[in-house]
Amino acid sequence: MKIIKEKIKKLKEEKNAIILAHSYQNIEVDEVADFVGDSLYLSQKAKETNADIIVFAGVYFMAQTAKIISPEKKVLLPNLKAGCLMADMINHEQIVNFKKTHSGIPVVCYINSTAEVKSECDICCTSSNALEIVKSLNCPQVLFIPDANLGKWVEKQLDGEEIIAYDGNCPVHNNITTEDIKKARTNYPEAKILIHPECKPEVSALGDYVGSTSGIIDYVKNSTDKLFVIVTEKGVADRLKRDYPEKQFVLIKNDMLCESMKLTSLEEILYSLENEVNEITLDEEVRRLSSNCIERMLEVSKK
Ligand code: 13P
Ligand code: SF4
Repeated sequence: MKIIKEKIKKLKEEKNAIILAHSYQNIEVDEVADFVGDSLYLSQKAKETNADIIVFAGVYFMAQTAKIISPEKKVLLPNLKAGCLMADMINHEQIVNFKKTHSGIPVVCYINSTAEVKSECDICCTSSNALEIVKSLNCPQVLFIPDANLGKWVEKQLDGEEIIAYDGNCPVHNNITTEDIKKARTNYPEAKILIHPECKPEVSALGDYVGSTSGIIDYVKNSTDKLFVIVTEKGVADRLKRDYPEKQFVLIKNDMLCESMKLTSLEEILYSLENEVNEITLDEEVRRLSSNCIERMLEVSKK
């Protein structure tokens, strides 16, 4: 393992490459990563970097997003099978039909979607800025795709504006019930319960904090509390246990695992960087159209 890590680090220098890793990745990936965080943070880093190669330790839509906003860079996804169940719930034809049935209403697209889908949308969002992005439109009605849970969670915090949400979700988060949260409250009355907004809105409503993977990690960092129930993928709990050994973390369910996120191994990172394979490519017209949607989000989130 040590040899693989050393080889990766050497190759990064030789090739002017960086590794971006999502917080759900296998924890050993952190040791070779330049930046670890949530979707918004990683897309900002993909845009800012002067590297020639970006190796994305994450899932397909994340690497694709990096390529959309940094087309001149080589973007590699070490395991091309790393998809996203939610992103697969809407394709180009479905977004076109969804827009047709609600014509004239702006479309907010969660970053967990393909470039083809993004190319049909007005503005992108992530779990950390969804409310800010919807508000920035200043419209009485907004279409929100593909995550109905996030869309409805945002709607609860608006002043009466309506979110018309597409019927997609993340099965990993959608499985959590209000009963699970109530049980956790009973079992750990002194714990703070931290929830990702991909959970059902009625589940999110029971949390002490609702936010992105980085938001949850920052909450722990800034809190004096000692016990936390983590309601998102296991990778976040693993990182928290490593970084805050003096605190205690309980993962809401043992099966909070995104299989795709765990596909990327250090061996595959090394292989793709060494041979510059598993590159993300895009049709230029799709790239250009989807880039409008992401750039608009980055502009709003910068303010
Ligand atoms: P974050 O934007 O919070 O990192 O979430 C991405 C994701 O896929 C959660 O399931
Ligand atoms: Fe997609 Fe869910 Fe995995 Fe996040 S946890 S990448 S939304 S399948």
